[in-house]
Amino acid sequence: MTSSLPLAARPAPTESNRSPDVPAPPAAVGPNVLGSIGRTPLLDLGRLAARAGLPSTTRLLGKAEQLNPGGSVKDRLAQALFAEAEARGLRPGGTVVEATSGNTGISLAIAAAVRGYRLEVVASRKVSSEKIRLLEVLGAHVTLTPDVPHGDPSHYLEVARRRAEEIPGAVYLDQFRSLANVKVHEESTGPELLHQALELGGRLDAFVCGVGTGGTLVGIARFLRRASPATRIVLADPEGSVLAHGGAFRSYRVEGIGDDSIPPLLTPGLVDGSVSVSDRDSFRFALLAARTEGLLVGGSSGCHLAAAAEIARDLPKGAVVATILSDTGRNYLSKFLDPAWCETHGLEGLHEEVRA
Ligand SMILES: Cc1ncc(COP(=O)(O)O)c(C=O)c1O
Repeated sequence: MTSSLPLAARPAPTESNRSPDVPAPPAAVGPNVLGSIGRTPLLDLGRLAARAGLPSTTRLLGKAEQLNPGGSVKDRLAQALFAEAEARGLRPGGTVVEATSGNTGISLAIAAAVRGYRLEVVASRKVSSEKIRLLEVLGAHVTLTPDVPHGDPSHYLEVARRRAEEIPGAVYLDQFRSLANVKVHEESTGPELLHQALELGGRLDAFVCGVGTGGTLVGIARFLRRASPATRIVLADPEGSVLAHGGAFRSYRVEGIGDDSIPPLLTPGLVDGSVSVSDRDSFRFALLAARTEGLLVGGSSGCHLAAAAEIARDLPKGAVVATILSDTGRNYLSKFLDPAWCETHGLEGLHEEVRA
């Protein structure tokens, strides 16, 4: 590769010659990409809030976890799962196995590449082809299973458990039961979020989040219970999931949150209220985030935003409501972000509605 400008001729940015629009460079050069996980911005989504009809004094805040290097909140978890497994004796060169709706696998694959592990992931065919492709590009061995209820021998959790038993010396990371999954959010995401919300809005009236494993919601909620007891914790759940209202499970298209049974990490009594959100509203809010805020986020973030707007509407003017933008919309370019896909999957006219 050749450069037309000798490196020495490029002036190094200093406080005096840096344009005010150019942010300061990172303080240190990191040894690898894992050092850029976390410390994500909390964004004031004023244009989205206005489009959702909220009063101008009400603040809707989104923690931009999609900006992590793996494109999701799960980058934080992957670090914690490896640290936990290494404390139990896992050593580089070993094999780890995990069941995932895609994002945990992507985050683990990044960490496995850097730390020198072999990764096997088991995912349901519901998972978008973008996420599967990313897993393969990052070097994970992927097994796909049918989208069947818990307890079925071909459910992705059962298949992952069996794979871990079959491979000599393999460690099953088990994000659905790992206490490190809660701890990492209690110790990092929660404190970051509260600190940023107080800086931006001066208060935090409600925190809204969905549950896949429950790590994100439970960890942040445990921190807020101690540090900001007046903050209401609200569960955002896809319509069809049983977490918010029980009843019969009905499949839905939003990925990563909701389930047909309560996950082990979701402790009873932690949540003050819940909002069920349809696929259409989840995807509509994700599309609105792109159109109004320039944010590419997935359907679970859309579900969170729709529920947060609903909660904010019921709170007094001036309320501050925060939620999590869990993953990047780039994971769903062949799904709800494609107007043709929406037309054939019960979401007719959605893209036109958002453009209007
Ligand atoms: C896109 C997406 N959103 C939200 C979640 C839920 O996060 P948690 O497992 O911490 O409840 C997941 C989990 O896989 C996810 O993939």
